[in-house]
Amino acid sequence: MTTHTIIVGVTGSIAAFKAADVVSHLARRGHEVVVVMTESAQKFVGPITFETLSHQKVVTSLFDLEYATFPRHTALADRAELLLVAPATANILAKFAHGIADDALSTLAISVRCPILAAPAMNPHMWRNRVVRANVARCKEFGIKFLDPVKGPLACGIVEEGRLAVPDDIVEAAEAELRRMRRARN
Ligand SMILES: Cc1cc2nc3c(=O)[nH]c(=O)nc-3n(C[C@H](O)[C@H](O)[C@H](O)COP(=O)(O)O)c2cc1C
Repeated sequence: MTTHTIIVGVTGSIAAFKAADVVSHLARRGHEVVVVMTESAQKFVGPITFETLSHQKVVTSLFDLEYATFPRHTALADRAELLLVAPATANILAKFAHGIADDALSTLAISVRCPILAAPAMNPHMWRNRVVRANVARCKEFGIKFLDPVKGPLACGIVEEGRLAVPDDIVEAAEAELRRMRRARN
């Protein structure tokens, strides 16, 4: 199997723990997986979880000395073959839609030349919110691909669309995108 360098962005959703499964699957399939966590994501899951599963240092800050001085963000951006953001918050989608680059993940998003695939997770009222819809549409205009949230029981106690896609489906969508890129190159 062809393996790839994949950046997995993890943001501050209650579904952040599910990213561990995604990272574990991708790493076990031989991919080089570099996890980049937002500050909010670190309130939900510790970097040590992702470091253990990916066997790579996790990027937790734009000003992380090792990350900042190489400069690792551009080196990482150059190497990346896919930027997968799972879960993607309403906030990170707003940043992606408007080119705001105020942390490691949002800075990477405007530095990479590879495809970006976002798997959002949020409360259904947030997902349906007009500003969020506009930001998703704007992200799509810029070529960002989406694996939409699914209907299911949510942490807020209701059963609606907002739940992060199943980790297996996220892995499959990431690999499908990489296959599509390979075919386009050949
Ligand atoms: C318990 C809790 C759960 C949250 N879950 C989500 C979520 O699933 N999706 C979302 O968009 N925001 C969620 N938020 C809000 C984000 O954490 C907040 O907007 C934060 O600024 C996102 O930062 P980030 O995009 O840099 O990770 C949640 C907040 C809390 C306190």
